[in-house]
Amino acid sequence: MLGMKLEDMQEFEIDLLLEAIYFRYGYDFRDYSKASLERRVLHRVQQSNLNSISEMVPRVMHDTEFFELFLRDMSVTVTEMFRDPKVFHKLRQEVFTQLKTYSRVNIWHAGCATGEEVYSMAIMLKEEGLLDRTRIYATDYNNHSLDIAKKGIYPVEKMKLYTESYIAAGGKASFADYYLAKFGSVKMAESLKEHITFANHNLMKDQPFAEMHLIVCRNVLIYFNAKLQDRVLTLFKDSLIARGFLLLGDKETLDFSEVKSYFETFNKKERIYRRLMHV
Ligand SMILES: C[S@@+](CC[C@H](N)C(=O)[O-])C[C@H]1O[C@@H](n2cnc3c(N)ncnc32)[C@H](O)[C@@H]1O
Repeated sequence: MLGMKLEDMQEFEIDLLLEAIYFRYGYDFRDYSKASLERRVLHRVQQSNLNSISEMVPRVMHDTEFFELFLRDMSVTVTEMFRDPKVFHKLRQEVFTQLKTYSRVNIWHAGCATGEEVYSMAIMLKEEGLLDRTRIYATDYNNHSLDIAKKGIYPVEKMKLYTESYIAAGGKASFADYYLAKFGSVKMAESLKEHITFANHNLMKDQPFAEMHLIVCRNVLIYFNAKLQDRVLTLFKDSLIARGFLLLGDKETLDFSEVKSYFETFNKKERIYRRLMHV
């Protein structure tokens, strides 16, 4: 301990842990923003009754179940249906009119968490007569969240708030038409689900998708440093068709990114960008 501050030691231990994870699984958490990463690592030390961060190193290396727990800790899955209803309203009014000009539409929700955002999108597409020609790819690196998303089962208590947001987003029918309520839960309609493909995809290391008309990635980039944000935005640039749309979260922007010149701003306030044709 001589001459070393506790914070420095902690930082060193976290670096060791992240190196070990990168070596073993290829997940590069070194590009996650430091403050929330540190909080989450310390939470796992406490929950698993460990004496130090270093004790996590052999655990993540040799115990894949422990690593899954770590992944769950690392992913903040807070989400809701029609989150920021104005954004959905804008999509419906201005982006969907453009999507209607295509005979097939591909949409990618990157970082879909437990699926609420994706079902909201499917509902709107249905009401605009677009769902039948659309395939939605909904991805996350957290398998636990993906399982919830695939089931599409949510607590009934949330439906009051979601109904209000659905109306604020320009909903045209009754929100209750889209789910079945049973024993304190609701199950989203199969007619929505059949247009959605849920899959594990890790924005840190996996490949682009092809021919996307719209990519939605909200409240994910905020957890990444500038380098990882650039990697992910390049992935989106490469996945979009010319004139395809990109929707980010309200605290996220393309302004400081390497790929800014490949896009034009379609709606600044709602963070909607459009892929330029010839770059
Ligand atoms: C706060 S949620 C956002 C959910 C939804 N997009 C919304 O705005 O309501 C962030 C999600 O990003 C996912 N995520 C974080 N890092 C990721 C990565 N490297 N690859 C894929 N998903 C990631 C998390 O697992 C989590 O489900």
